[in-house]
Amino acid sequence: MPTYTALQEADTNVYNALMGEMKRQKEGVELIPSENYVSPAVMETMGTVFNNKYSEGYPGKRYYGGQEYTDCVESIAIERATKLFRCEHANVQPHAGAPANVALYFALLEPGDTVMGMDLSHGGHLTHGHPVTYITKIFNFVRYKMKNVETGEIDYDAMREVALKEKPKIILAGFSAYPRELDYARMQAIATEVGAYTVADMAHIAGMIAGGALRNPFDDGFDIITTTTHKSLRGPRGGMILSRELELGRKIDKSVFPGFQGGPIMQMVAAKAVAFGEALKPEFKDYAHQIIKNAKAMAQHFMENGARLITNGTDNHMMLLDCVTSWNITGQEAETLFDRIGVTLNKNMIADDPRKPMDPSGIRFGTPAITTRGMKEDDMVTLANFMLQAVEKRTDDAAIEKLHEEVKAFCLQFPVPGIPS
Ligand SMILES: Cc1ncc(COP(=O)(O)O)c(C=O)c1O
Repeated sequence: MPTYTALQEADTNVYNALMGEMKRQKEGVELIPSENYVSPAVMETMGTVFNNKYSEGYPGKRYYGGQEYTDCVESIAIERATKLFRCEHANVQPHAGAPANVALYFALLEPGDTVMGMDLSHGGHLTHGHPVTYITKIFNFVRYKMKNVETGEIDYDAMREVALKEKPKIILAGFSAYPRELDYARMQAIATEVGAYTVADMAHIAGMIAGGALRNPFDDGFDIITTTTHKSLRGPRGGMILSRELELGRKIDKSVFPGFQGGPIMQMVAAKAVAFGEALKPEFKDYAHQIIKNAKAMAQHFMENGARLITNGTDNHMMLLDCVTSWNITGQEAETLFDRIGVTLNKNMIADDPRKPMDPSGIRFGTPAITTRGMKEDDMVTLANFMLQAVEKRTDDAAIEKLHEEVKAFCLQFPVPGIPS
């Protein structure tokens, strides 16, 4: 384990903040579905001298010299990513998920072209066309939605009608707040009919796809996958664009660099290589399946105790709970309450939420991080019970404080990788 002695000597303020964050991560429950704990090997790689190197370009085609080792790690990352997701091309340089999506749009589209993505009120991500993002000044975004919020079924007939009318150049699968699987084959059929590219933004579920616990959109003919590498895939913070065929990959390379970014963050590229190596191991398959088993167990327990989950359950790692209907509190009130007992999650809009984005009706939570800590189905019931008790005793400060102590004692049984216990 690193000792951080150089940091302690050089900068007490940052050192103290780091120690505080380590304690917070160790003593609390991380239920934000986009977060995870990386392995000590990934963590170590992020803090290496690869940081010191400029490597604009791609392996074998760089602008500056001295690239034998950067070429080596980037090539390893690419080779492992293509193996993991069964595709011909990977660009591992996007700094994060949002830049990956923007670079992708510019690779495939002309200004004014149309993208069809999941309605943002039904789970789509900001980069899928939220009006606050600059990309909506350049491209036109149209939507598809769930047909039935109780089952989560997407309205594929309406999707086809909109596609036939609007002629999108991209049909985009993917979400940050949707607990079900998409029918990629059906989306691919619609895209083929209207001549659109198919893109899956798999940021949230990349780990489960890599581990074979969820379907790989490439198996249904999708052209592109974009993803973050730091969520369920359990790598460093970063992004990646995968192409089923080499030719599209070349367009994407040009768009990422020089079209959009400068030098790659090479210590992150190296850490991506390490994380992909871990994801190729058989243990990662177990991890990916356990994430979903845990989410299903937790969802079931909440529903048995009267909570309303959007779509009545989950197929992936994520749950969306309607706090107003279930407990007569807002999403913000629930987030604050759970914070007080050491359970971190986020307030979130639920489908067709009558409330505002900053004060929504629901919360969103998930299991990738706690599964990394080794928690299993029984532990999901324990955790859900802590949360249900907090709701019940929310006006009793002493009871909430006692619950916080119990959560802490429970968490300390499950070490966080890379943090001394
Ligand atoms: C589906 C999806 N795409 C893209 C992103 C953006 O990723 P980043 O925050 O790394 O830019 C997210 C992040 O939450 C996401 O959920």
